[in-house]
Amino acid sequence: MALVEVRGLRKTFGPVVAVADVSFAIEAGRCTVLLGPNGAGKSTVLNMLAGLLAPTSGAIRFEGVPAGADHRHLIGYLPQQVAPFGWMTGFEYVRMAGELAGLDRGAAGVRAEELLALLGLEKAAGRRTGGYSGGMKQRLGLCQALVHRPRLLMLDEPVSGLDPVGRRDVLELLRRLKTGSTILFSTHVLPDAEELSDDVLIIRSGSIVVDESLASLRARHEQPVIEVELDDEAGLPAWLERLATTGAAVERNGAVIRCRFASAAATHAGAAEVYRLAADHPGGVRRVELGQASLEDMFLKAVQP
Ligand SMILES: Nc1ncnc2c1ncn2[C@@H]1O[C@H](COP(=O)(O)OP(=O)(O)OP(=O)(O)O)[C@@H](O)[C@H]1O
Ligand SMILES: [Mg+2]
Repeated sequence: MALVEVRGLRKTFGPVVAVADVSFAIEAGRCTVLLGPNGAGKSTVLNMLAGLLAPTSGAIRFEGVPAGADHRHLIGYLPQQVAPFGWMTGFEYVRMAGELAGLDRGAAGVRAEELLALLGLEKAAGRRTGGYSGGMKQRLGLCQALVHRPRLLMLDEPVSGLDPVGRRDVLELLRRLKTGSTILFSTHVLPDAEELSDDVLIIRSGSIVVDESLASLRARHEQPVIEVELDDEAGLPAWLERLATTGAAVERNGAVIRCRFASAAATHAGAAEVYRLAADHPGGVRRVELGQASLEDMFLKAVQP
């Protein structure tokens, strides 16, 4: 079986259906991203997997764990809001997390030191976490999630609240962790999702609407785009008419003109014509670029009702 199998998971809060009916599997060694608009149910799904929230119905099965038995020690979880006990030091907090996960005090301490250093918190390790900034709490949360070398690492928006340097550090860490671990993370940052994930789950209003590998999503939605950025709009209307004769669907967004063709082959044939027309534009062009539809384009299609 897969490392984790989720079947018919549902969670209601009184009249609110947070998660309607969610099923998916996570294969060992893969990195899966959970995407979805605000309020779609991502955190609720992760909280149920982590054992912090009891499902209203449905089942979560972990490989090698009998049905109904506790699997929490196999999971490391960075929740969306990290709230460590403010009176504990960073070191004490991570060591305690290790002990709760079954490590003895000595091993938990060694591992805590190692992780605090890895995440750039060695100087703050002896300080009370009540005085940590949001970004520091986020890194502390990552140490806590990794302390017992979990089989599944789950991260709910791991880069939210981090400054650009912190964000780059965390992404770099995840890139390194990807080899040899199984990761499930949620994010709103689609370029990060595209860079890190092997598999994509998109949840909308509590139901999964996309469950596919990134490679196959890309292959299905692959649509080359030629972007022309204009220097000046002189003579634009007549020029746009000529552009339309290339067979491209033409979209304009300010000075940027996007030309989409129906297929890669059509783009190949049309590109030369677009480049020729670009050279001919009376107002001049700043940039002509051949690109691909991004995960963002696919995401917007998937979450629109
Ligand atoms: N404890 C709760 N009580 C009542 N409603 C809740 C509770 N937790 C979540 N919900 C509702 O369930 C739905 C899903 O919430 P959830 O936090 O899982 O969304 P999310 O996808 O993580 O959103 P975000 O991207 O904003 O983090 C929302 O409508 C939310 O208001
Ligand atoms: Mg959330």
